[in-house]
Amino acid sequence: MSVSVAVFASGSGSNFQSLLDHQTEDSPGRIELLISDRPDAGALQRAEQAGISTQVIPVKGRSQDGVGLETLEVLEKSEIHVVLLAGYLRLLPHVIIQAYPKLILNIHPALLPSFGGQGMWGRFVHEAVLDSGASFSGPTIHFVDEDYDTGAILAQWPVPVLSGDTPESLAARVLKVEHILYPRAADHLCRAVDQGRQAAPLSLPEEAALQLFR
Ligand code: GRF
Repeated sequence: MSVSVAVFASGSGSNFQSLLDHQTEDSPGRIELLISDRPDAGALQRAEQAGISTQVIPVKGRSQDGVGLETLEVLEKSEIHVVLLAGYLRLLPHVIIQAYPKLILNIHPALLPSFGGQGMWGRFVHEAVLDSGASFSGPTIHFVDEDYDTGAILAQWPVPVLSGDTPESLAARVLKVEHILYPRAADHLCRAVDQGRQAAPLSLPEEAALQLFR
């Protein structure tokens, strides 16, 4: 069986694109659906170009229950097993978290548990990292629970902060690694789901990762 995957994205969708680009016939998961809360999300165009079904589910001004039930119906209709949040800026409704225990991943552009939580997205994350004087940043892939950025960590990949970095230069360095890490973590989870077991934390060749930037 192939594990059916839905990706949620609010923005340009470069992570969604890298997930798509890494997918092969042998991948344990298959992206079947792209869901966005914004009709102008770049990710929607990428999905349409790739022949992936899309669904816009607006969130602003609606109740969590209304959004949750509509989303659940869409996921169930497409028989989705795994959900990947890729730049989705909304908190997932309770009903979705309950329906997909340990089956939803998010990517965050810093090393959680630092630099996460409500309001910590995009440029704000990288500004906070630079303000803190940290020597490393890097993406975190974590399971999604009821709060922002608090679920169990599946994978992280350290990226050096360089002197003279701006939020933009750091974001670009981290994003490059996001595009490598998320497909690996998604495959890791889908393989576990396919085999009916829990996914263990994914260890990565950290030295090799750091050498990317030397
Ligand atoms: C990424 O930096 C990701 O870590 C964060 O949102 C950004 C999405 O970028 N959650 P993109 O839309 O995938 O280009």
